[in-house]
Amino acid sequence: MHNSPSPPHGTSILEQASVYAAKKKKEVREKEEGILKNIEEFSLADQELLLNVTVNSDLVLKYPLKLEYQKAFLKLILGKLEKGNLKGSIEIHDDFYSAYGRIISRNESNSEYFKHYVVDTDVISLKENINLISEGTTGLKTWQASLALSEWALKNKNYLKDKTILELGSGIGLTGLVIALKCIPKKYIFSDCHISVLKNLCQNIVTNTSENRDNFRLEDNVVLEVELKSSVKLSALNLPWEEVDLSICNKIGNIDIILAADVVYDSDLFSSLLNSLQCFAKYCKTKDIIFACTERNPETLNSFLKCIGEHFVVTEEKCPAQQHFIWSPTPQVKFFRFILK
Ligand SMILES: C[S@@+](CC[C@H](N)C(=O)[O-])C[C@H]1O[C@@H](n2cnc3c(N)ncnc32)[C@H](O)[C@@H]1O
Repeated sequence: MHNSPSPPHGTSILEQASVYAAKKKKEVREKEEGILKNIEEFSLADQELLLNVTVNSDLVLKYPLKLEYQKAFLKLILGKLEKGNLKGSIEIHDDFYSAYGRIISRNESNSEYFKHYVVDTDVISLKENINLISEGTTGLKTWQASLALSEWALKNKNYLKDKTILELGSGIGLTGLVIALKCIPKKYIFSDCHISVLKNLCQNIVTNTSENRDNFRLEDNVVLEVELKSSVKLSALNLPWEEVDLSICNKIGNIDIILAADVVYDSDLFSSLLNSLQCFAKYCKTKDIIFACTERNPETLNSFLKCIGEHFVVTEEKCPAQQHFIWSPTPQVKFFRFILK
């Protein structure tokens, strides 16, 4: 098994993360300054265009970003425009004040908002939650391992094409939607066990596959079934690992690949997770299992690898380089492949 270098002696993960955050902040500020340099000279037409592709775009009006982001964005732009106006070089478009007024008069009434992930020409819009843990679950936001697994999927499109894929602990669905829309599998089965997560997951699937809105059904443990125009079949299952057995596996049928992002964090869940993987490998004839694991606590991850290593051959795979998605490199996301011994 390939081992990644451990952090420099005396540097905690938290310290590394804060150094990284400061560096990123500086890079973003420099980039913003470059982009924003000309705003003080923006004509009324330029200003209208800027609004129409940001806070006034149909996408953001329908699926609003965090209000806090929108406020900060408009405040920054208005500050620049007001400077230009004072110099007498430009007028400020009324729509800027209307948009700012509309946003500051709103209350962030609940902790839900939308995030938009741009993948080449597609935009995936997900309803997310501000909080890391909400309603007793970690599943209502997108975690960095899911971003890394989505990146991995885009690099392995040919491998995923025409396969039947089951995702464990899908959360609100980023990885599955990326794969369904960009990698054209035969069938993608999302799964989770928490009622609010499943509700948001189904809503996100419907939002991003809206042309098929009528074509879904509810049945038994199947929360949602959708067939896309590309003939990719999607379903979302209520699938607690504790309940996976021969009869559940028979209902699901054969699975070529199992994927999971950030499901190795609680040692109390290891035995049910491991048992479910053994069932899938045995009864659903799954040949390949890929886990993207965020290494928050090396001991927890190593203890899971030790348990699973008793039944599966474990290989560490390379984490893909960031191209479509951005995630913090600390704590590291590690990739593992498990094949039944
Ligand atoms: C940290 S979140 C990761 C969500 C998503 N994969 C991501 O990376 O954004 C862990 C997910 O595992 C699910 N989960 C936890 N225990 C589970 C269990 N026993 N059976 C099925 N899913 C479970 C949670 O509901 C949650 O959605």
